[in-house]
Amino acid sequence: MGILEGKRILVTGVLTDASIGFHVARIAQEQGAEVALTAYPRPTLTQRTAKRLPSGPDAPPPVIELDVMSTEQLGALAGNLREHGFDHLDGVVHAIGFAPQTALGGNFLDTPWEDVATAVHASAYSLKSLTMACLPLMKDGGAVVGLDFDATKAWPVYDWMGVAKAGLESCARYLAKYLGPQGIRVNLVAAGPLATMAAKSIPGFEGMTELWPQAAPLGWDVKDSEPTARACAALLSDWFPATSGEIVHVDGGLHAIGAVC
Ligand SMILES: NC(=O)c1ccc[n+]([C@@H]2O[C@H](COP(=O)([O-])OP(=O)(O)OC[C@H]3O[C@@H](n4cnc5c(N)ncnc54)[C@H](O)[C@@H]3O)[C@@H](O)[C@H]2O)c1
Repeated sequence: MGILEGKRILVTGVLTDASIGFHVARIAQEQGAEVALTAYPRPTLTQRTAKRLPSGPDAPPPVIELDVMSTEQLGALAGNLREHGFDHLDGVVHAIGFAPQTALGGNFLDTPWEDVATAVHASAYSLKSLTMACLPLMKDGGAVVGLDFDATKAWPVYDWMGVAKAGLESCARYLAKYLGPQGIRVNLVAAGPLATMAAKSIPGFEGMTELWPQAAPLGWDVKDSEPTARACAALLSDWFPATSGEIVHVDGGLHAIGAVC
C-alpha cells in the first residue's frame, strides 16, 4: 500500500514533464493518491503533459485553469474541483514561481517595484491565496507543500526571486501558525537547481547547475527531480503528522556547507 493511498491531492505547476510538479503528481499517483492539476497559462500544454502520468493517456487527471494572480479564478477553484468529483482535498502542492526578466540575472539594483511586486505576488503571496482558495475543501485538515530555493543566502543571478522565496518561507510559517488549529500542516521543500522551464528562464542560472553537483556533499543531478518529489510526497503523507512551518532541504546537503574548497 502506498503512503498516499486514498488521498486527494491538488498539484499546481505542471507545465512539462520536467516540471517538479509533474514528478510530484507522478509519485503521488504511484503512492495511491487521486490527483487533480491546475494549469497556467493555458490548459492545453498541461493536459498534454498530464497524459504522461501513470494514470495513462486514457485516464488523465482533471486539469483546471488557474492563474494564481486572478482573484476570479481562485474564487472558482473549489467549485471547479467539486465539479470534477473532488469534494475534499487532503493535500495541496504549490509548485509555482515567476519573476519578470528585469528582476533576475544581475539586475537587482535596477529592478522597478512593479516587477518586484509581480514576483512576490506570483511566487510568495500565492501560497496564501492558493491555500485559502482550497480551504473550503480541507475541512478535515490536510497538508500544504510548497517548492522553495534556500532564501537564507544571496545567490548569483537569483535576485528578486530570492527575495520572493524569503517571503514564501515566511508566508509558510504564518500559514502554519494560522491554520494549525484546523489540522492543516504547511511545509516547504528547498530543492537544489533542477533543469526545468523556470530554471532555464533565469539568465546565468547555468552557473549554479554547474557548481552544485561538485559542491554538494552527496552530489547532485540537475536532471533528477525524484528526490525532491519524494520529499513532497512524504510531507503530504501521514508520516509527518506533527511537522509544520518546516523547510526540508533536498539539495545534496549543500545548505550545510560553509565554504566550497
Ligand atoms: N528548477 C529549480 O531549479 C528549482 C529549485 C528550487 C525550487 N524551484 C521551485 O519549484 C517550483 C516549480 O518550478 P519548476 O522548476 O518545476 O519550473 P516549471 O517552469 O516547470 O514550473 C513553474 C510553474 O509555475 C507556473 N506559474 C507561473 N506563474 C503562474 C501563475 N501566475 N499562476 C499559476 N501558475 C503559474 C507555471 O505555469 C509553471 O507550471 C517553483 O516554485 C520554483 O521556484 C525550482
